[in-house]
Amino acid sequence: MGKYEELESKYIINTYNRQPGFTPCLVRGEGSYAWDDHGKKYLDFLSGLAVNVVGHCHPAVVGAISKQAAMLIHTSNLYYGAPQAELAEILVTKTMEGGKVFFANSGAEVNEAAIKLARKNKKGRYKIITAHQSFHGRTMATITATGQSKYQEPFKPLLDGFSYASFNDLDSFEALVDEQTAAIMIEPIQGEGGVHVAEKDFIEGLREICSRENILLIFDEVQCGMGRTGKLWAFENWNAVPDIVTVAKGLGGGLPIGAMIAAEPYTEILQPGDHASTFGGNPVVCSAALAVMRVLMADGFLASAKDKGVLIKNELERFIHLYPEVASNFRGLGLICALELKQPLAKKIHERCTVGGLLINAIGDTTIRLLPPLTISEEELQDGLNILESVIKVLLK
Ligand SMILES: Cc1ncc(COP(=O)(O)O)c(C=O)c1O
Repeated sequence: MGKYEELESKYIINTYNRQPGFTPCLVRGEGSYAWDDHGKKYLDFLSGLAVNVVGHCHPAVVGAISKQAAMLIHTSNLYYGAPQAELAEILVTKTMEGGKVFFANSGAEVNEAAIKLARKNKKGRYKIITAHQSFHGRTMATITATGQSKYQEPFKPLLDGFSYASFNDLDSFEALVDEQTAAIMIEPIQGEGGVHVAEKDFIEGLREICSRENILLIFDEVQCGMGRTGKLWAFENWNAVPDIVTVAKGLGGGLPIGAMIAAEPYTEILQPGDHASTFGGNPVVCSAALAVMRVLMADGFLASAKDKGVLIKNELERFIHLYPEVASNFRGLGLICALELKQPLAKKIHERCTVGGLLINAIGDTTIRLLPPLTISEEELQDGLNILESVIKVLLK
């Protein structure tokens, strides 16, 4: 066992299932690459779980962090903050005119904020409908929102008022709406649930139901937002603007941040004392996020992410055609993609890709998830897909 594996097994609570002798200890990153403590280089198709949208250690992010850290690191939210105010402005103007932001430190926290806002919005309305196979975080409210019993069972009793409908089945959502419903909350693309993309009729139909019934539509874009689909927000791929959108992961360029953006007239529901976060909107994190937003907003950047998404899709569809014994189906949009396998080979493919110098992710036994940085070059993308193809070929022998 290496030094860090030994320290981890002795001192860190084992919630992540790292494997001694196999899981790398990453010590450095640059662009689309990361290096482990033995100097081995990996092409990163996981991006720190959809976080490194502008790659590892993007110079604009590093520069913004260094500059802000040398000036002022933390103030608390008792004071005005310049980076926080500027970040809120860019988030609102690029998302929904008239909206306002609440800052926290993670996806789960901003989903909590959204749940609290929805519950406070109208007296007597406290129920939230979410989707089966969804993922919204690990706090008590967000595991309750998460429609997967494996995350809930050991921690029961859960919060009151949550019910679950089937993703892409509009009728199943409509059937659960009653006079106590406060909100419907979905991921426009379910990430942890295996990369399931909302269908147009479904997501636009949810918008109609929510407007008609006067309930909030909340989109959790923690994983699928921040340019991953080739648009800043995934919901821009459809004609369905939410009342609340939650974002985290990619926003901070690797530093912890979450933002809940609420549309008018829901911007004044939460009042002083209703909600807070000591670190939320911290100057250093917001400076990093401003740098990320400016990279994403540069001319042609999001369109190029979309083009690279087409490259992945074409290649994975080629694999399905060439290796039908292994690969059965592609799901995704832009640079959030999954390859569905016919056999329970996901863990084996994940292991062999790691050995081959490619970081990917296995969801369950039969799904491979790819989340490369949006800054990846087409050559790097092709190199990674070549490693994945060679692993599949060897497995076929
Ligand atoms: C869609 C979605 N929502 C919420 C979360 C929770 O985010 P965090 O781990 O930052 O609390 C995740 C994390 O994977 C996610 O994918």
